[in-house]
Formats: sequence, C-alpha cells, structure tokens
Amino acid sequence: MAEALNKDFGETVVRVQPDGDNIEAEASDQFVATPHVQALAERALAYLEVGYAVHFAGSAGTGKTTLAFHVAAKLGRPVTLIHGDDEFGSSDLVGKDSGYRKSKLVDNYIHSVLKTEENMNTLWVDNRLTTACASGNTLIYDEFNRSRPEANNALLSVLEERVLNLPSLRQNGEGYLQVHPDFRAIFTSNPEEYAGVHKTQDALMDRLITIQMGNFDRETEIAIAIAQSGVSRHDAEIIVDIVNELRGTGVNNHRPTIRATIAIARILVHRKAHATFNDPVFQWVCHDVLTTETAKVTREGQSLMPHMIDESMARVCNAALKTRRSGSRPRLVNKGKE
Ligand SMILES: Nc1ncnc2c1ncn2[C@@H]1O[C@H](COP(=O)(O)OP(=O)(O)OP(=O)(O)O)[C@@H](O)[C@H]1O
Ligand SMILES: [Mg+2]
Repeated sequence: MAEALNKDFGETVVRVQPDGDNIEAEASDQFVATPHVQALAERALAYLEVGYAVHFAGSAGTGKTTLAFHVAAKLGRPVTLIHGDDEFGSSDLVGKDSGYRKSKLVDNYIHSVLKTEENMNTLWVDNRLTTACASGNTLIYDEFNRSRPEANNALLSVLEERVLNLPSLRQNGEGYLQVHPDFRAIFTSNPEEYAGVHKTQDALMDRLITIQMGNFDRETEIAIAIAQSGVSRHDAEIIVDIVNELRGTGVNNHRPTIRATIAIARILVHRKAHATFNDPVFQWVCHDVLTTETAKVTREGQSLMPHMIDESMARVCNAALKTRRSGSRPRLVNKGKE
C-alpha cells in the first residue's frame, strides 16, 4: 500500500490517500482564523451544511484556495481536487471510454467439435467528478473559470437535481448516477484574472452561492505573516504596512498581495534580519519582491517603483520607531478639533 503523503497546501495540511485520487484535509497550525476569516468560514459552512455549493470569488492572494481547504477540512469528508484548465472537456470531469476489452473462448473439449465465443466490452474509466459524486466527497474546483463553460455542463444537474448524467456506455449500463447525499462542492475563481479565463456560464453561477473575498484586514495580514514565517509582531506590522501602502499604486490594484508580505517575512527570518530601514537584507528583499509585483508604474521609461518603495519603507519604519520610543501606537489626530 502506498504511503500517505503529507503536504502543506494553502496552510491546511493535505494528506493524499493511498489510492492517490482523494485527499484528506486536516486543519493546520499555520491556518489563521481571525474574526474576519472565521466569519467567512462560518458563512460558507452554513451554506454547505444545507447542501448549497459555495463559490469564493476574489482577486489573487485573498485566501480563496486556503479557505476552501479549511472549510473542506471542517466538513470531514475526503476531498477531491480539480484545477480548472482550458484543455478540459466534459470527459475530463466525468470519465470516458478507454477502449474495448475483447475476450475469446475456444472450447475444443470434444476434439471433433470446436466452439468459439467472442465478447467485446467497452471499458469505462470514471473521472474525478464521478468518483466524488459516487463517494460523497467534498469537491474543490479551484479556478473553475479557467475551464471552458461547456466542460462544466455536467455540474448543472449535479448541483440542481443531484444527478450526474453519464453516457449510456458506462460499463454497468447506468446512464445516470444519483449523487451521494454527502457530496458538497466548493468553487474558487478570480474574476479579474485576464489570462486564460472564460466568461462563466450564467446557469452554473446561478447554482452557486458566491462569497466575495476582499483584501484581508490589517490584523489578519499581520497574523498570517507571523504564522507563515515566525517573524516578530513588530517586523510583521512594518512589512504589512509597507505592502499596504504600495498596494493600489500600480496598474493592478491588488498587488502586491499577501504573498509578497509572507516572502519578505520569511527571508528576514531566514537571514536573521529585521524590518528596519538601514538593514541591508530588508532593503534588497523589499526591492526584489515588491518591484516585480508592480513594475509597470513608469515615468519617462523609468520604473518609479524603487523610489516609491524607498519612500514607503522610510515612512513606515520612522513611524514605527517613533511609536516604539513613545511606547504607544500612533493616534490619528483630528485636526479640526485641535
Ligand atoms: N487564513 C490563512 N491563514 C494562513 N495563511 C493564509 C490564510 N489565508 C491565506 N493564507 C496564505 O496567503 C497566501 C495566499 O492565499 P491563497 O493561495 O489561498 O490565495 P488565493 O486567493 O487562492 O490566490 P490565487 O487567486 O492567486 O490562487 C498563501 O500563501 C496562503 O498560505
Ligand atoms: Mg488560489
């Protein structure tokens, strides 16, 4: 029997079961459940428990895949994972004929009589959606809008009538499969992504309850940076504030994402460096990670990002230094009342 493979997947530990087709999701220590995340998870679970399919929609790095795994782990069923793909046809979800099995029986028991019998059987191979529907797994269909809408058609009756329509050639002759009562589906998509995405069909969207994932709040971002890297709270606050200042200054309003925050924090910890303006490691890692994220902002052909990063680093580091010296958090002063 193949050994179970443990893999860190979006901060929910995912165990690949021995048959290699299903995965078991278990909650992990690194998963951050601040009130913001908790509220999203609770909403999703409420819909799933009643039998609805849930769809996490949001821009890159808003925690859609991680939350999908977390919620799936809470449901406690094996997880079937599918990634949307432009090359997908419906057979990639449902299954297909994989050829014929021919058997021939030659009976020459009585030497003067030769009896031969030939059988042709089609071989049907179930694909992941069929397996998930039959076994009552939780389906995670990540980035489902990367598949062509017609490839997802099989899902329409699965979600509404809870019946999977299979071609009549299926080996045991069943043309329909009654979906297991425990089958649940979680979808994720990034509607703003421009590369390789298809306009989603209305009929499918109408069957999903869409939860919009906005950016994380500051507290959640700080907690995620700490959980993912082991960086100090003080350093995490500085990184999060710099990334937040730069977010929205570029062509893409959502970059740099939480991934940049985590990358900077991990390098600081790895190099035993700190989030102070003069720290050389902090300087180069911020420039490397943040410049590539928003390199499209230019003036006269020159990228403005290095300059903007320096300014932001200086501002945030100085504010943090002042706060540390005064021993309190900076207060927003209402000038009108002064
Ligand atoms: N609640 C959380 N606790 C800990 N880490 C998290 C949490 N949510 C997200 N992260 C981390 O943030 C990063 C981005 O999350 P995730 O991959 O889930 O985003 P996404 O919305 O699926 O992004 P994309 O659209 O690019 O696929 C990952 O490194 C993930 O580990
Ligand atoms: Mg994702």
